[in-house]
Amino acid sequence: MQPHEKKHLLIVDDEPVILQILKAVFEEEPWRLTLVGTGAEARRVLQSERVDLLLTDKNLPDVNGLELLRIAKEREPLCEVIILTGYGSLETALAAMELDAFDYVLKPLNNVFDIRKKARQAFAKQDVALENRRLILELREKNGALEAALDETRALQAELIQSEKLAGIGTLAAGIAHEISSPLFGIMGLAEAIADEQDLALAQSYARDVVEYCRTVRDIVVELSSYSRAASNEYLTTVELARVVHDALRLVERSADVRNVRFEMDIEEGLLLQARTNEVQQVFVNLLKNAAEATGEQEGGGLVRLAAGRTGNTVWATVSDNGPGIEPEKQKLIFDPFYTTKAPGKGTGLGLNIVYRIVTKYRGVITVDSRPGQGATFELRFPLDP
Ligand SMILES: Nc1ncnc2c1ncn2[C@@H]1O[C@H](COP(=O)(O)OP(=O)(O)OP(=O)(O)O)[C@@H](O)[C@H]1O
Ligand SMILES: [Mg+2]
Repeated sequence: MQPHEKKHLLIVDDEPVILQILKAVFEEEPWRLTLVGTGAEARRVLQSERVDLLLTDKNLPDVNGLELLRIAKEREPLCEVIILTGYGSLETALAAMELDAFDYVLKPLNNVFDIRKKARQAFAKQDVALENRRLILELREKNGALEAALDETRALQAELIQSEKLAGIGTLAAGIAHEISSPLFGIMGLAEAIADEQDLALAQSYARDVVEYCRTVRDIVVELSSYSRAASNEYLTTVELARVVHDALRLVERSADVRNVRFEMDIEEGLLLQARTNEVQQVFVNLLKNAAEATGEQEGGGLVRLAAGRTGNTVWATVSDNGPGIEPEKQKLIFDPFYTTKAPGKGTGLGLNIVYRIVTKYRGVITVDSRPGQGATFELRFPLDP
């Protein structure tokens, strides 16, 4: 029902006098009135028009008033019904109430204004019910909109997860390419050396190194694929730091341009870590390479110092250089993947990110200390307790 539409009141009684009286009672009200004398007519009105309140005699000669009530409710459940009934049929009046009539009025009509009051009350109740229905519809609509929004959010989330996975795969692939490039360069250099080597014993030792680097490549591929997982004990071995650092340095010397760089090592003997050899080696290869790359152009040559020791339950290592250093605001960025200040083709920006991931995997910390112009020092700390 539209708000501006008048309420429609249908009055049904076979006694013309009663119709007359009721017409007079309701004439002044702001409602549309239809008065009919038979049940058949009433039924026609109910079936062809909207009726908001039905006021009907219970005992019509042709159709039972309760049947009209049923039709009215079937057409519009919110239609209200008031039954007019004689004193003798109080029981049927109560039956009408059970059929969801709003009220009943006993005949003869002693107080016609009482009927008007009941009609007004019926409309008031109906207005509340209509408002409720409107609110429920509105709620359903809003629920529908919310559900649609939720569906959309879910779809977006799925898309996001997918694209994050793809980005993750991209980073993984780039990381693997980055890490195997040093041993691959090493293999290439050794293979060339073997080809020209006359001394069989030396050629054999190069060949052993080639095999070793091939293993390194294989392990890097396997290990990098499992970065997100925490270090699992079954893969760990006891790693002797001095030996791994020595191997890392040899690999850097073989795979990068370090002609202009001097390396100094000061490593305590017998420093042991529970880790994967390869990963510890990757950490130092990346740090030493960065340091060598930073100092290579230094006047009078570059100097890279590596120190390591043990304090209490912590194994520490530092890699320092005399390069240009890192500005404070850049120090926050250097561990991010793909952050690089090197020329395109020179650096991918993955080295320190890989270092960071390996170090944190072993519950270690890495910090950088640098003042521009005065070199940089990277410090690693690993807890010794399992
Ligand atoms: N020892 C250092 N001295 C000065 N700057 C450094 C040093 N180590 C790292 N950086 C800075 O941090 C950046 C990130 O280093 P990272 O190793 O992650 O990537 P990269 O060396 O640029 O590239 P890639 O390692 O892929 O060859 C470098 O580009 C450089 O700006
Ligand atoms: Mg690097």
